[in-house]
Amino acid sequence: MSVTCLTLRPLTNEIELVDRWLRKEYIKKWLGSTEDWLTEIRNETGEFDYIRHFIVVYGNQPIGFCQYYACEKTIKGYPWEHEPAGTFGIDYFIGEETYLKKGLGNRLIKSLVNHILSHEQAGRIIADPVPENQVSIAVLEKNGFKLDDGTGLYFKDLSE
Ligand SMILES: CC(C)(COP(=O)(O)OP(=O)(O)OC[C@H]1O[C@@H](n2cnc3c(N)ncnc32)[C@H](O)[C@@H]1OP(=O)(O)O)[C@@H](O)C(=O)NCCC(=O)NCCS
Repeated sequence: MSVTCLTLRPLTNEIELVDRWLRKEYIKKWLGSTEDWLTEIRNETGEFDYIRHFIVVYGNQPIGFCQYYACEKTIKGYPWEHEPAGTFGIDYFIGEETYLKKGLGNRLIKSLVNHILSHEQAGRIIADPVPENQVSIAVLEKNGFKLDDGTGLYFKDLSE
């Protein structure tokens, strides 16, 4: 039996699609302001050059979005400000409801971690789900992330 591929494609001109996804209630309730996300993705000032955005493709179908960034390059004042150099933050969602709860979130995280490992000098990856977002926490834990009780962030040490 063949398994449909899940791949990450650098985001180029799919901003309208991501805009539509970000406005969906089940995404917006965890990610917050659509406009803030779009400002970062459009990156008109170059301020967000350090963020790498991807469309998640399942077979030939765009089904979601994810991104990563070097924490040391982000604006100060975030909870990951004190993470060691070589720490990368991630964000992600499945934008098409029909693809939820099929194990694809789990595969998304796995692909994103592998991408970071093969493209960056990374020692640690972090994610920042709120405690109520149990599905997001479940897919992180499945991929070896652990809760840091001190910061409330989920982390994966890549040396392990
Ligand atoms: C988080 C997200 C990417 C997960 O995608 P998904 O494809 O639905 O997830 P999967 O099917 O791979 O896995 C979901 C896991 O959560 C588990 N789960 C579902 N509801 C749960 C709950 N209420 N409590 C605990 N675990 C739960 C499932 O059992 C499954 O684990 P299993 O494979 O061991 O059975 C998706 O739900 C999403 O896009 N959510 C909105 C945006 C978001 O929250 N992004 C993350 C912000 S930090």
